[in-house]
Amino acid sequence: SERESLHIINEFAKEHFKKNMTGTEEGKSIGLSYFVERGFRPDIIEKFQLGYCLNSGTDFTDAAREKGYKLEYLEKVGLVKTKDDRNFDFFRGRVMFPIHSVSGRVLGFGGRTLFTDKKIAKYFNSPESIIYNKSEILYGLYYSKGDIIKYDNCFLCEGYTDVISMYQAGIQNVVSSSGTSLTKEQIRLIKRYTNNVTILYDGDAAGIKASFRGIDLILQEGLNVKVVLFPDGEDPDSYSKKVSTSELENYIKEHTQDFISFKADILLKDDGDDPLKRAELIKDIVHSVGLIPDSITRTVFIQKIAAEFQIQEAVLDSELLKIRKNTL
Ligand code: CTP
Ligand code: MN
Ligand code: MN
Ligand code: MN
Ligand code: MN
Repeated sequence: SERESLHIINEFAKEHFKKNMTGTEEGKSIGLSYFVERGFRPDIIEKFQLGYCLNSGTDFTDAAREKGYKLEYLEKVGLVKTKDDRNFDFFRGRVMFPIHSVSGRVLGFGGRTLFTDKKIAKYFNSPESIIYNKSEILYGLYYSKGDIIKYDNCFLCEGYTDVISMYQAGIQNVVSSSGTSLTKEQIRLIKRYTNNVTILYDGDAAGIKASFRGIDLILQEGLNVKVVLFPDGEDPDSYSKKVSTSELENYIKEHTQDFISFKADILLKDDGDDPLKRAELIKDIVHSVGLIPDSITRTVFIQKIAAEFQIQEAVLDSELLKIRKNTL
């Protein structure tokens, strides 16, 4: 079938990119040394099946055509592009991160450029196809599902390298929504394994914004959500390379916040006493509580907010009612 052919091509590509990286001079001196310089251990490079696509332009295309794979299928999975009747490798000169399904089949790739030129997209990602529906895939889940069940918690990061570095540091209940912004389908996928998500997004404005969005989506799907804010400019990968494993574990332990205190820290900053800011914050938090499907859970949060902000429950209840009328 076509689906099966696309799977076989992706599997072939994964093996090809691995061989490129370890078995060619270019692969070793450019691809492998990139990963080594980033501090990825050999066993982790092997585990995550990382590879490199040669820069020649047609190395993969030629190998796949020689194998007899149909050009149409090679284009459908996005590995080969055609321009002016010429076929070439889409990911040429990039290090390759295979994206696996929960059962370990390769559905697509992320390819990172080795250049720092801001004009070049840092990551290329495989296109959607009949085997690759981005909104329903979580990078790393194939490797992490056991530990997500074991620890009854899922760490949710932004990127491929965050997942890999956390995993290397021994924190192996970790996934990322790489290549898309978080979707409800991805949250439902997590829900198969745990009801608890801890967001570990990048410590920058974009990461904080994405955390706010993630909190609401996760609450809406009926899961518990916590957040760890990293120091400004750090992500789980960069931070894990600066500190020891136990320091990383401690950082996460000590900086895990519920969504209420996370929002309070961000929205109040130094203006903790400003009445208007406090009112805005409380409305924002109640809005998030309003998304929780279960009424008892909502009530428990309302009680908590009432206690923390010293505000009458009845006032919060009526605000909640107003919000739920308007949004549901
Ligand atoms: N991303 C993408 N396309 C881009 C930039 C980012 O698909 N042009 C996705 C990738 O999955 C990436 C994630 O968004 O891993 C987070 O982006 P970013 O924080 O910019 O990259 P990092 O994962 O930190 O990558 P690196 O550490 O290699 O710079
Ligand atoms: Mn991570
Ligand atoms: Mn970022
Ligand atoms: Mn990042
Ligand atoms: Mn990074």
